[in-house]
Amino acid sequence: MPRLAVLGFPVGHSRSPAMQSAALAELGLGEEWSYEAIEVAPDAFEERVRAMPGEGFAGANVTVPHKGAALSLADELSETAREIGAANTLVFAGDEIRAENTDAEGFLRSLPGSPEGKRALVLGAGGAARAVVWALLREGAAVEVWNRTELRSQHLCEELGGQTVGAPEQGAYALIVNTTAVGLGGEDPFAELPLDAAGFTAGQTVVDMVYGGEPTALLHAADAAGATTVDGIEILVQQGGLSLETWTTRPAPLDTMRAAARG
Ligand code: ATR
Repeated sequence: MPRLAVLGFPVGHSRSPAMQSAALAELGLGEEWSYEAIEVAPDAFEERVRAMPGEGFAGANVTVPHKGAALSLADELSETAREIGAANTLVFAGDEIRAENTDAEGFLRSLPGSPEGKRALVLGAGGAARAVVWALLREGAAVEVWNRTELRSQHLCEELGGQTVGAPEQGAYALIVNTTAVGLGGEDPFAELPLDAAGFTAGQTVVDMVYGGEPTALLHAADAAGATTVDGIEILVQQGGLSLETWTTRPAPLDTMRAAARG
């Protein structure tokens, strides 16, 4: 009876248990496999993870704030996880812990088309931004990074590539990605980010990794301007589908996962 889980702190808000449980049921694995949420504080993370293989876990998703720690404790890292510096997926194979990152590929799959040759603006310089910048550069986009604390975006670009930007010209980008937490607590994105509600254009793709029950204020404004929008749930579905495929080696039932994640 292989077990799976998402590890976070907090983790109660996570849509992953509903989404992954629905996927396992759709694949006919619902009686064998299980997926649960485990809240674990940072100082208990490593001990908790090391106990999991002995408790029947085959793998885990890892979310905020454990993505760096997951990378550090793993015996084997995928090249993507190593380069991004964060892991969102763990695989327990015997005594060995493998760390992977499906955030980058999941983000790319959520886009309506290839970002190759496109000018892209990434807002933020945390773990989520690292996966997005890495993915966009790999695909051949021209990436600019804005962050409230400019020193962090400078470090990110020194490590991964891309250019920092202090005052981005909103209409000049084919793709705008918000990886910051702005909006999560109901903040006004147009007060906190270098964006204007009336500044989006049709033809742009606007991605907001913040997810909640309704379109965020950012995506609402982008949609009103005729831009294509991608929300955080779609990215959650795509990264979760890739994680599920890693553990079960079965194709992920994305429509089922999408419906369950949107609840
Ligand atoms: P994650 O791993 O989810 O990206 P993180 O590392 O805590 O999380 O990063 C959060 C990001 O949201 C950072 O880019 C942060 O900006 P700072 O580096 O300046 O802290 C950004 N952020 C959070 N609240 C913000 C706000 N009110 N305005 C602008 N940016 C904000």
